[in-house]
Amino acid sequence: MLSGCFKIRILARNGIGRSLNIFRLFSSARSRDIMEERYNDTRRYLDFYCPLTVLEENAPMVAGSLISPQTPQYFHNFYQQYHKEWDNSTALLLEVGGGPSIYTYVSAVPYVAKIYHADYLKANLNEVSMWINKDPDAFDWSPYFKYVIQKLESKTSFDDVLEREDKLRGLLHVLPCDIKADVIVPAVKVPVDILGSSFCFGSCFDSLEDYKIGLKKVYDMITPNGFFVSQTTLELTWYRFEDKRYHTSFSLSLEDVEQYYKEIGFDILHADFWTNPMEVRNIMSDAGGFGFIVARK
Ligand SMILES: C[S@@+](CC[C@H](N)C(=O)[O-])C[C@H]1O[C@@H](n2cnc3c(N)ncnc32)[C@H](O)[C@@H]1O
Repeated sequence: MLSGCFKIRILARNGIGRSLNIFRLFSSARSRDIMEERYNDTRRYLDFYCPLTVLEENAPMVAGSLISPQTPQYFHNFYQQYHKEWDNSTALLLEVGGGPSIYTYVSAVPYVAKIYHADYLKANLNEVSMWINKDPDAFDWSPYFKYVIQKLESKTSFDDVLEREDKLRGLLHVLPCDIKADVIVPAVKVPVDILGSSFCFGSCFDSLEDYKIGLKKVYDMITPNGFFVSQTTLELTWYRFEDKRYHTSFSLSLEDVEQYYKEIGFDILHADFWTNPMEVRNIMSDAGGFGFIVARK
């Protein structure tokens, strides 16, 4: 009798395990489709998520934009405050899930030796390579560079802006990566001094459990005392990309993010939250806001 019950329980467990695996495979395939849909057309992505007009004086908010005037300020503050904590002549910076965007490390350029830009999609890596090669069709990031160098670093000459762009072109390497794989960026010899990731971890994993596993992997890729600099969308349950509406697999509050980072072993140095103003909320997403988090291993 007892062994009969045991067998039934094993069978039930295996059955559930199998359907969970099938569910996981299904949701992972679905999330890859969504990834292709949202990110393969890099120009549509950049026009939609990175409208650099938001950096102009008194510019109106743009619904859906991942960039706001706080964005360059946060990265600027981080590098100003912490660049003496590592050896600037050898430091490695790795950006994972970098997409077609290069804004996250414009302020890092004077303080690191190499920047690896990694993403899953070839289209994103090609877009960044086009910028490196000064392809006339590459996205124009110069308003962002001008904002950082002229407004935040108070260097008035336009030559300083061009110099920063050229220096970045010399430091930057593009590489494939998969944040869901056991080895996220096979081509990079870890650990790295600074690891960055913006708007990738919260949106690309199929479950909270996988998100936490991903964070642990990232933790292991950072040198002791190194930094994890991340941005994430908060309190998000749905978003629109152009005319399509999608639902997220899980939603994070800033408190959740802080808790998971701490559980893994990170020390949180800054966790800033900026709210999505009401005039742009519930148009492109229900995101309550965005978080900029600096954590140290
Ligand atoms: C919202 S975008 C953010 C891009 C960029 N960091 C930015 O701030 O504009 C999310 C990025 O994650 C990338 N991504 C999705 N799944 C990934 C995976 N499994 N491994 C690596 N990158 C992935 C997508 O290709 C996309 O570029």
